[in-house]
Amino acid sequence: MRISDSIVYVGVFDRDIDLFEGQYQVPTGVSYNSYIIFDEKIAVMDTVDSRKTQEWLANVEAALNGKAPDYLVVQHLEPDHSGSIQALADKYPAMRLIMTAKALTMLPQFVDASLSARAQGVKENETLSLGSHTLKFITAPLVHWPEVMLSYEESEKVLFSADAFGTFGDPEKEDWLPEARRYYFNIVGKYGSPVTTLLKKAGTLDIQTILPLHGPALKENLGFYLGKYQVWSSYAPEEKGTLVAFGSLHGNTAGAAKFLAEQLKAAGETVSVLDLARDDMALAVAEAFRFDKLVLACSTYDGNFFPKMEDFLLHLKAKAFQKRKVALIENGSWAPMAAKGMKAYLEQMKDITILDTVVTIKSTVSEANREQLKALAKELMA
Ligand SMILES: Cc1cc2nc3c(=O)[nH]c(=O)nc-3n(C[C@H](O)[C@H](O)[C@H](O)COP(=O)(O)O)c2cc1C
Ligand SMILES: [Fe+2]
Ligand SMILES: [Fe+2]
Repeated sequence: MRISDSIVYVGVFDRDIDLFEGQYQVPTGVSYNSYIIFDEKIAVMDTVDSRKTQEWLANVEAALNGKAPDYLVVQHLEPDHSGSIQALADKYPAMRLIMTAKALTMLPQFVDASLSARAQGVKENETLSLGSHTLKFITAPLVHWPEVMLSYEESEKVLFSADAFGTFGDPEKEDWLPEARRYYFNIVGKYGSPVTTLLKKAGTLDIQTILPLHGPALKENLGFYLGKYQVWSSYAPEEKGTLVAFGSLHGNTAGAAKFLAEQLKAAGETVSVLDLARDDMALAVAEAFRFDKLVLACSTYDGNFFPKMEDFLLHLKAKAFQKRKVALIENGSWAPMAAKGMKAYLEQMKDITILDTVVTIKSTVSEANREQLKALAKELMA
């Protein structure tokens, strides 16, 4: 696939992987993107996961058509991108490796120590001329590892954006937003401040194309993607709406959650209802960040609360969840404790407003509970 006359896509699509980074469901697969820039000098931009080394090398060879690359630009050392560095370096012994100073220190963890002699560090805004193309390097520490850099190609105004602006799924097919949101909050979400810093740097560049390391090349309407990253990295809600997330042993709490969701929908609210025991945890995290309101409905369990809910709150805390309005529904048959347990987690997060009204259910949802849930919906929407 050609990005332009001089830039060729040589990435691979991994449709068989069960879990990305050992935990994220990717039902539509994930791509490891890689590109080659052809000029007087030839630069390969990143490699791919070792799961796909052979397929990628075949793509690279076909694109090179007998030529040898002068440079491999290593923007990120995480194994999904560094997994084939050794294989490429072995094949092309004259090729130099370009990366940040931080990446130089980490390189021997991923390849033979002898490769370091062929690697050179670059600084912020340093450039590498390939002929009519010039790469300018922009460090992006913690987006999403400390050694990351992005590369801006000045003549074609292309930003090679490393993991930023990436998404799961087939790069040819995916509807960017839902999977990009799930990818962002679960993989990069904790690093809002480094992403904001990066966006400020990107703001000084005239960008016409963004080439991320996962998902489609972004060529049109770039303001849309940059705008989403601006909102997401600031932790501000993306839209008005409510995620109702429940953990229910015998189904009564689930019923209460769905009843509340109906009340909210009737009042015009956009609502997403997720079962924390069955639905994807990464989707629940993304939906929590998407909306301005969150409802947690949970059964009491062994004097504490349903472990899947605790897991969800641990995930939210780890991703710096903040700036949201939260309502609580609890259920218990003899000594309901879930609200207290959930509150203890929420109080460790920044700028979380917990509604004073807590709906407490004793085993089954009573008529009085239904009235309380209706009132809770009104209070949440107020
Ligand atoms: C393994 C287990 C442990 C429970 N522990 C408690 C408890 O410590 N305190 C309590 O009030 N209820 C406890 N319950 C009762 C549940 O909280 C109650 O069945 C549940 O809240 C009802 O809502 P549900 O149908 O949505 O699960 C326990 C139930 C089970 C199955
Ligand atoms: Fe990464
Ligand atoms: Fe990645």
